[in-house]
Amino acid sequence: MRPPRVSDRLRFIASLVLPGARLIDVGCDHALLPIYYLLGDPEAKAVAIDNKDGPLRVAAKNVSRWGLDDRLTLIRGDGIPSGLLQAGDCVVIAGLGGVEIGQILTQIESAAAMYVLSPHSRAEVLRETLSQLSLAIVAETVKAEGGRTYLVMTVKPSVKSIMYSDDERWIGPHCLTQLDADFGDAAFLLYMRRLKRHLSRVVRHDPTAASPLARLEQYIGRIDA
Ligand SMILES: C[S@@+](CC[C@H](N)C(=O)[O-])C[C@H]1O[C@@H](n2cnc3c(N)ncnc32)[C@H](O)[C@@H]1O
Repeated sequence: MRPPRVSDRLRFIASLVLPGARLIDVGCDHALLPIYYLLGDPEAKAVAIDNKDGPLRVAAKNVSRWGLDDRLTLIRGDGIPSGLLQAGDCVVIAGLGGVEIGQILTQIESAAAMYVLSPHSRAEVLRETLSQLSLAIVAETVKAEGGRTYLVMTVKPSVKSIMYSDDERWIGPHCLTQLDADFGDAAFLLYMRRLKRHLSRVVRHDPTAASPLARLEQYIGRIDA
């Protein structure tokens, strides 16, 4: 059977999962991401978790429709259930806020091999939580979908301690290097324009936003010149 039609963002997230890894999709909604992933990797397994009955009903129908009941386990749960994670797992948490993603990661007892995280808000709070948990951001990409822009972070456990500057925490350590490289991707530029507008409001009550705001003003000024 043909794989489900999924957005470019979800296809990109699926491409980041280590081949053969068990995918743990937290906040799975329709479960189209794990279905798409499993149809591309016949040996892999997945667990899809959601904390609401409505999405899980749709997910269950989709899992049966694509004949994946023996490879995809659906769980009703808040975050990652205790004892579920195994060392080689890849955890995806996409489409939740950065604060909530951070809370879910803080509650898990053992490390996964990697995490793909896509917060729809408060990425700076998530980066702070990741540094406290010694989880290193190894890549950041911006994807556009339906007029919105989504940050996608690839994250791995680190033995080194991690401390982010204000610029890195607000803009992202890898996005920051893309500013210097004059990265011209349309989704990235749109994301940075929106972040600049957000920072110009935040700076009125949070002085840590001043330096990243200046960096973005400089970057966008250069693009618009
Ligand atoms: C906006 S949808 C995102 C769906 C999909 N991950 C994506 O990126 O397209 C968020 C889903 O996460 C679920 N959710 C929110 N908080 C959750 C939590 N703490 N644990 C499990 N599921 C959660 C919601 O019920 C909803 O189905």
